[in-house]
Amino acid sequence: MLRDGNLAVMLPRRTALALLALCGLIAVGDALKCNCTACESSSYVCETDGACMASTSYIKGQEEQQVRICIPRVSLVPPGQPIYCLSAKGLLNTHCCYTDFCNSINLQIPSGIPEGKGDSWGPVELVAVIAGPVFLFCLLLIVGVLIFQHHQRNYNHRQRLDVEDPSCDHLYLAKDKTLQDLIFDLSTSGSGSGLPLFVQRTVARTIVLQEIIGKGRFGEVWRGRWRGGDVAVKIFSSREERSWFREAEIYQTIMLRHENILGFIAADNKDNGTWTQLWLVSDYHEHGSLFDYLNHYSVTIEGMIKLALSAASGLAHLHMEILGTQGKPGIAHRDLKSKNILVKKNGTCAIADLGLAVRHESITDTIDIAPNQRVGTKRYMAPEVLDETINMKHFDSFKCADIYALGLVYWEIARRCNAGGIHEDYQLPYYDLVPSDPSIEEMRKVVCDQRLRPNVPNWWQSYEALRVMGKIMRECWYANGAARLTALRIKKTLSQLSIQEDVKI
Ligand SMILES: Nc1ncnc2c1ncn2[C@@H]1O[C@H](COP(=O)(O)OP(=O)(O)OP(=O)(O)O)[C@@H](O)[C@H]1O
Ligand SMILES: [Mg+2]
Repeated sequence: MLRDGNLAVMLPRRTALALLALCGLIAVGDALKCNCTACESSSYVCETDGACMASTSYIKGQEEQQVRICIPRVSLVPPGQPIYCLSAKGLLNTHCCYTDFCNSINLQIPSGIPEGKGDSWGPVELVAVIAGPVFLFCLLLIVGVLIFQHHQRNYNHRQRLDVEDPSCDHLYLAKDKTLQDLIFDLSTSGSGSGLPLFVQRTVARTIVLQEIIGKGRFGEVWRGRWRGGDVAVKIFSSREERSWFREAEIYQTIMLRHENILGFIAADNKDNGTWTQLWLVSDYHEHGSLFDYLNHYSVTIEGMIKLALSAASGLAHLHMEILGTQGKPGIAHRDLKSKNILVKKNGTCAIADLGLAVRHESITDTIDIAPNQRVGTKRYMAPEVLDETINMKHFDSFKCADIYALGLVYWEIARRCNAGGIHEDYQLPYYDLVPSDPSIEEMRKVVCDQRLRPNVPNWWQSYEALRVMGKIMRECWYANGAARLTALRIKKTLSQLSIQEDVKI
């Protein structure tokens, strides 16, 4: 009986025998005896004219029993590789042979393929196959997030350095720079809206306070020193944070800087652990407010024109809208009065206290904050503010109310004008008609109901400058806001007057 050797040797021999059998070279009488697992009745032996076959298979991961059978010659097609004798890799191992009982051998599925697992995976493999990529994906995600966060932190750190790092200050705050230099740098740098925040902070924190110079509704005003120069520091109480913020915001309106508007230097909020100190630093003017100045001094005709013209220039600039990328919105002051105008050394005015101002957004024709009905100082309130008929949707209404107040300020100035050796004492507008801290109702009765206005003395007609001033005032006080002069008109009239009177500005 032939025994099968290795597969390479076996195949040609098998093929040869199959061919022999097919060609009838093996006599039918010499029937081939094979093991037969299904032939219980004939002692597990069968006879065939074809081949003996043994096969073993894996089904659902289990090794099935060996199957041994006889294959008739007619079934041995195709002759070279009869389909009965084909193996399926990893699943079925089939062996055909052509000598008696040659199929009694024990077959096994060839190794090299996951044993018994075929194409069905166990739980461990399944977990490995699914969890592996998921784990890898998560790992990549975490690494990605970490890298992103690292970059963000670096970027934020750099940004903070740009804003806060005092090492950047040297660009602006070289040791020999005075306030004037700083302001000059500002006006030529073209930013138009103030010093960078970190410079503001550094300046504010190196100011040495000297003496208190005034007290207002929102806090105290101090004179301070910075690099040998004087500055004014308005210190707001922490309750007034909104006023502090708003005033700083308005002062930093692009292109606001003007010789007749108080020069803003810095805003700073310093937390000392118990409370927050809110500072607003500005130019210092030793004469103080126009109210203080007129109380102390009378003025010449030239002095009056300088004060009046500069105040009109400041207000005209505030009111004016400048178009373009470096433009400026129209701004209404809403608290114009002699206490909120400062007098500079050269005898001109600087309009201050912009905390109640509103800005006009001309594109949408809206006002930048929701304006409340009655703000400002009651004594200086225009009739339409007192009786609440002001059209708050219309920005020009606020400008007209400012003009009414400017007229009152002009009256205060003109009274102090020394012409021909005569001048009057200082008085607040309506001093003779209302008490010292008048209520809205008291003001409304006088201004709206009785339609009274400050008295314009007849003798002013004798002096051209006072005559012009008297005329301007009346045209600022019309009950109808729209009929009043504009700041620009007043500025032009007073410019002509200054030329006539040979005033040197
Ligand atoms: N930049 C400055 N330079 C010099 N003195 C100033 C300056 N700013 C304010 N003062 C003085 O401080 C005083 C107080 O100013 P502040 O604006 O706080 O109050 P007010 O104008 O008197 O009243 P209100 O709170 O109604 O505006 C002013 O009247 C003025 O004398
Ligand atoms: Mg004030």
